[in-house]
Amino acid sequence: MSDSPVFDDLLDEQREFPPPAEFAAKAVVSGDGLHRKGQDDYQAFWEEHARELDWYQPWDTVLNWTPPHAKWFEGGKLNITHNCLDRHLGTWRRNKAALIWEGENGEVRTLTYQQLHGEVCRFAAALKGLGVTRGDRVAIYLPMIVEAVVAMLACARIGAIHSVVFGGFSPESLADRINDSSCKVLITADGGWRRGAILPLKNEADKALEKTPCVEHVIVVKRPAGEPFPCRIKGGRDHWYHRLMESAANDCPAEEMDAEDVLYILYTSGTTGKPKGIVHTTGGYSVGTYATSKYVFDLRDDDVFWCTADIGWVTGHSYVVYGPLQCGATVLIYEGAPDHPEQDRFWELVARHRVNVFYTAPTAIRAFMKWGDHLPAKYDLSSLRLLGTVGEPINPEAWMWYHEHIGGRRCPIVDTWWQTETGAIMISGLPGVSTMKPGHAGTPFPGIEATILDEQGNEVRTGSGLLAITKPWPSMLRTIWGDDERYVQTYFTKWDAQTYFPGDGAKRDAKGNYLILGRVDDVLNVAGHRIGTMEVESALVDHPAVVESAVVGRKHDIKGEAIVAFVTLGGGRSLDDALRYDLKAHVVQKIGAIARPEEIIFASDLPKTRSGKIMRRLLRDVAEGRVLGDTTTLADGAVVEQLRESYEEKYGG
Ligand code: PRX
Repeated sequence: MSDSPVFDDLLDEQREFPPPAEFAAKAVVSGDGLHRKGQDDYQAFWEEHARELDWYQPWDTVLNWTPPHAKWFEGGKLNITHNCLDRHLGTWRRNKAALIWEGENGEVRTLTYQQLHGEVCRFAAALKGLGVTRGDRVAIYLPMIVEAVVAMLACARIGAIHSVVFGGFSPESLADRINDSSCKVLITADGGWRRGAILPLKNEADKALEKTPCVEHVIVVKRPAGEPFPCRIKGGRDHWYHRLMESAANDCPAEEMDAEDVLYILYTSGTTGKPKGIVHTTGGYSVGTYATSKYVFDLRDDDVFWCTADIGWVTGHSYVVYGPLQCGATVLIYEGAPDHPEQDRFWELVARHRVNVFYTAPTAIRAFMKWGDHLPAKYDLSSLRLLGTVGEPINPEAWMWYHEHIGGRRCPIVDTWWQTETGAIMISGLPGVSTMKPGHAGTPFPGIEATILDEQGNEVRTGSGLLAITKPWPSMLRTIWGDDERYVQTYFTKWDAQTYFPGDGAKRDAKGNYLILGRVDDVLNVAGHRIGTMEVESALVDHPAVVESAVVGRKHDIKGEAIVAFVTLGGGRSLDDALRYDLKAHVVQKIGAIARPEEIIFASDLPKTRSGKIMRRLLRDVAEGRVLGDTTTLADGAVVEQLRESYEEKYGG
């Protein structure tokens, strides 16, 4: 736990930022009434918010909890796209911008709720025309373009289960995910812009498609602007999106889904080499993303909301698409990188689109800090009224910089803790209510019950322990696709079947504000992205030169953590620069660029405990230069022995 990159700085944080009076006066919620409601009766709290959405048929029971399996709003029928789209059409929001999209090359597209509804209905009808029906799985491998949102909503409209795979994942990762949930259709694009270059997505997808016999149809979006990127269209299997749309019916009624019907699967890394297909269902997820968007982001009808996450991650699902659209917000989507063409791109976008609420990751904030204060200072950022962060602990310096240079000292900052598994924000201040403290995520969202436990399940009142969620919540994952046993084992056996174990360390201050310390398992958080050490290790040992490997995270100023891999090589081979390069490229090829090790260190042997467990903590010390100074090799067995001794001395082996 003390390995968190920000941990040490945070314990003595004394600065406090109460809600600015002007903000609180207009906030969607102020005072502690909402928190009290949640505490008094969490089921009644969620039920009240479920009532704010449209249902075809009301639920019979709010919660059916057979630990560790929860069913929320059983008997209820709804469709999340009705609440995201149709519901707004009978109001003035019909002609309000739902999406404002900007491509990396500056092209802008705006879709009103009416227009987005039209696109979604047409694409839903096109999917039906290809034989996609309720319960079928559809993989989405797209850049951040309007069609990505349309594709997700079109699946949800007809009851198909989407599985979005981040466009930066390799063909092999894509194939694994497609096969794990036997997707029938893959939706991709000819290419997407990234830092002025085209990512050849369809060509990448073609490599995956060689290994995915379950895929019957591939739909290819022609990236709307710029050069059409050359790609192969296989007759009978591959279809251009725009051609399907030309002939699709304009209308496609939303399927009446059961509250517990699966809405989507999203893969995330765990402690084994195989990513987990996190399963979210319809009713509870709708309610959780709706209520958190409304209160945490204080969404108002004239707001432009910009969450910078890619739809390949859960943040993109919950706070680019489902949450804000259910609230009827205007959502800005940007296709490209923050430093293209210049490092001021985000601030130029904020100023030009008059963004009011801005939500990003600490890793981005640290990069902005490094790029310089003068960049945001060039722009009029006065439209901003609320800022948010997500994905990893934020160090107080970055928090203060964000507060001062982006928020002009007037915007509250919501530091939101949650996970792919939780579906929606779990711990966060509410901007009109809570006093914010740099680096602290704040208190549990109303209706969420959390605590801190030790390994034995005793509550930890002072000091650090393990974060635990003690009551079920509507947007919780329901299972792991095809592996319910892993669901139970991973999340509900640490203490008892009632208590969810998120895998994070935490600490509380005297006022009950949570300080999240980072992962306590073998999961890394690199630039806000979860990567399992085992996944990277498996990729490395897949290379013919590598016999064994161990991967650890090293503190990194911008990324939070960087990947350091220790490798033992076969046949007395030594690690030269060419092989180092080759090994990094191999990991990128197997997993994707986000998993590229920053450093590869040769070890003649990996230090293990007597029971054969790799001493990761020792390796982390080595990687960060704590044990042996600037060590770049563990070639000497005696060095390993020495490492082991010092490790056992320090941690008791
Ligand atoms: O370690 C926590 C960290 O990100 C993990 C969840 O990652 P993922 O499922 O990819 O979802 C990220 C976006 C919701 C958590 O277990 N994390 C997320 N938010 C925070 C955080 N750590 C500290 N502070 C946060 N606000």
